[in-house]
Amino acid sequence: PVLVVDFGAQYAQLIARRVREANVYSEIVPHTITAAEVVAKRPAGIVLSGGPSSVYEEGAPQLDSEILELGVPVLGICYGFQVMATALGGEVAHTGQREYGSTDVTVSDAGILLDGQPESQTAWMSHGDSVSKAPEGFAVLASTASTPVAAFASDEKKLYGVQWHPEVKHSAYGQRVLENFLHRAAGIPADWNSGNVIADQVAAIRAQVGGGKVICALSGGVDSAVAAALVHKAVGDQLVCVFVDHGLLRKDERRQVEEDYVAATGVRLVTIDAERQFLDALAGVSDPETKRKIIGREFIRTFEQAQADLVAEAAADGDPIRFLVQGTLYPDVVESGGGTGTANIKSHHNVGGLPEDLQFELVEPLRTLFKDEVRAIGRELGLPEVIVGRQPFPGPGLGIRIVGEVTSERLDLLRDADAIVRAELTAAGLDNEIWQCPVVLLADVRSVGVQGDGRTYGHPIVLRPVSSEDAMTADWTRLPYDVLAKISNRITNEVAGVNRVVLDVTSKPPGTIEWE
Ligand code: XMP
Repeated sequence: PVLVVDFGAQYAQLIARRVREANVYSEIVPHTITAAEVVAKRPAGIVLSGGPSSVYEEGAPQLDSEILELGVPVLGICYGFQVMATALGGEVAHTGQREYGSTDVTVSDAGILLDGQPESQTAWMSHGDSVSKAPEGFAVLASTASTPVAAFASDEKKLYGVQWHPEVKHSAYGQRVLENFLHRAAGIPADWNSGNVIADQVAAIRAQVGGGKVICALSGGVDSAVAAALVHKAVGDQLVCVFVDHGLLRKDERRQVEEDYVAATGVRLVTIDAERQFLDALAGVSDPETKRKIIGREFIRTFEQAQADLVAEAAADGDPIRFLVQGTLYPDVVESGGGTGTANIKSHHNVGGLPEDLQFELVEPLRTLFKDEVRAIGRELGLPEVIVGRQPFPGPGLGIRIVGEVTSERLDLLRDADAIVRAELTAAGLDNEIWQCPVVLLADVRSVGVQGDGRTYGHPIVLRPVSSEDAMTADWTRLPYDVLAKISNRITNEVAGVNRVVLDVTSKPPGTIEWE
């Protein structure tokens, strides 16, 4: 693999993704990794990430400098570039001159790293300190108005560094820097792709599971759908999937799982109809946290009951269920203790969040993958686009998109409005521009309207389109006015009880993506 050394903040994950976009497998490791631990992982290359610290700060994250002497090609980025400069005998100056945002970079000596790039380009910078002198024997490749050494290289030692952030899309030739480093400087072939991942995972699942039986909870979302499809490809009908319909799903989702997904994969599916149970438990409740707790609790109850039934059935056959599939993704793994020095990140509980005293061994075929990779694998496995391309959808479902009490009538109304929004966004070709677009019913708010000949006193629907890379931060998406107009028109005409459509223009922070 290529190791991405995490110096904190959230740069490492983005770098790891970009390395994989160059068809090279990458793994994130903490900056406390020792040279011996690096050797044990037999990396083909190493990338040192940026980070929020200054190399001069007390307690600033350090690097075992022997890592730079292993003969493994290294690319240092931003803070990683400065750590390299310091370790190799160059100088880093506390200039007090901060460069932040798009900055003009002048390439003086492209070398391998900046080969094929224009002499003058814009790149994304975010730093206070600057490398003032490159280490002995290193070529200076580029500079900016306030940074004399913005990139350096030693082809002989295979050590490279850039002050800017090539992983950020605002750096015009960023991906080229990474590709030049990976393919040319380090000589790593571009041969990691979804086909290989599927073959590897199928082999790994077979090795883990053997002839054992496996159970999986499908949520309707991408992750559990792809995880189950991989396991099914590996062990066929040793797998049984459980789908809990809690009545808080969007329009058509149950059918898509029961028909389209099953047709595409051939998995055995048991659906549990639990709408009544969930709605009874939610009756009279409007506090968001209480709703979340109730939905989580009911989900676990329902799933455990279904599981107990299946386990009993399997045990009666003399062949107990020993494994449970989870759609855990790489960011969850990294964020739950993967990277020391990583800023603390809020984590979400899946409604499928399972009890501690698990009686199963977990099968987690997506543990090394990012979301976009999971989608690519799902497509390769032939899963329906309605599932593979699905926006993130919270475990508690529409239950946290009704501000106020959740009732069957309100759910129907919200489902209709949500279906219109999804259809119009897709028709306008905007699915790739938005990360997700929650549609929220303000059930506790009413306003006066006029529809047909009469006065109405109805509820508003909120549109919450957001753009994001990872849901940690988000901006509201500037949807075209004509698309907004069409959506507003259709909802107020087609959804009885709604007489107003409003647009949420808040970024995250301060607003979260969901309303509850
Ligand atoms: P917020 O509202 O915190 O949401 O900005 C960030 C992302 O997480 C999703 N979300 C959830 N996902 N269980 C989930 O699986 C939950 O309880 C949950 N709550 C929010 C939300 O849709 C967004 O993508």
